Amino acid sequence: MTETVLRVRGITKSFGARAVLRGIDLDAHRGDVIAILGGSGSGKSTFLRCLNLLELPDAGTIEIAGAAAPLVHDTQGRARIADPRALNDLRAKTAMVFQNFNLWTHMTVLDNIVAAPVHVHGVPRAEAADRAQALLEKVGMAGFAAHWPRQLSGGQQQRVAIARALATDPDLMLFDEPTSALDPERVREVLDLMRALADEGRTMLIVTHEMAFARDVSTRVVHVRDGVIESMGPPALMFGADASPVFRAFLSH
Ligand SMILES: Nc1ncnc2c1ncn2[C@@H]1O[C@H](COP(=O)(O)OP(=O)(O)OP(=O)(O)O)[C@@H](O)[C@H]1O
Ligand SMILES: [Mg+2]
Repeated sequence: MTETVLRVRGITKSFGARAVLRGIDLDAHRGDVIAILGGSGSGKSTFLRCLNLLELPDAGTIEIAGAAAPLVHDTQGRARIADPRALNDLRAKTAMVFQNFNLWTHMTVLDNIVAAPVHVHGVPRAEAADRAQALLEKVGMAGFAAHWPRQLSGGQQQRVAIARALATDPDLMLFDEPTSALDPERVREVLDLMRALADEGRTMLIVTHEMAFARDVSTRVVHVRDGVIESMGPPALMFGADASPVFRAFLSH
């Protein structure tokens, strides 16, 4: 039986009066590559940020590889995490890759990669550094350990950010438009790397506008619209003639 890595039920989130997520349910099994597609403002980033609790959902449950951080509500209905240690447990199962790379600019490439293993997971520095070198090789960045982020192109920075995300061997990787800030000629090197991670069986949620990549690499396509999952299915179905008319209308834009 395939292992469930992500189980999400009933996630809601409002900013003030604006309901941005209106009840999201989603499961991912180990090795699933889920492409999350949808228009601007539909709630895609908010959803990813809720999964690692960068954003606190108003309600719902999230389980990632056996970790959960249940919410409790005060008398005004405001949510908080019942147990702060559970928050760290859940976060430790995930790693996120952002549109703008978000490397720490005051740290070398190597220090960016070893920071979480050493400071969050308690891995000895020498061991973390060895693994970081192997990861740099894997992402095609061997020889850049001592560089500073500002010395790298966008594509190179994003590949380092992916190495950083891999450094803790996360159960679930979250990508929020990882190629949207890249020059067109740099997009491919990052997509090729993500395709290699998919082939290795990494479990990934990827918000993207790269439709060909979603069609060719994902195991499932999810269409988010106005804070709900409008439709989802295997790419052959979602990109075929029997897809939801709403999704087909989205694709044709
Ligand atoms: N911290 C916040 N405070 C207030 N409103 C927010 C906040 N974060 C997001 N929003 C609003 O929530 C809605 C959904 O935003 P979100 O960033 O999740 O959309 P998205 O689907 O990722 O869009 P895009 O494709 O443009 O990245 C938007 O209307 C946005 O303005
Ligand atoms: Mg977004």
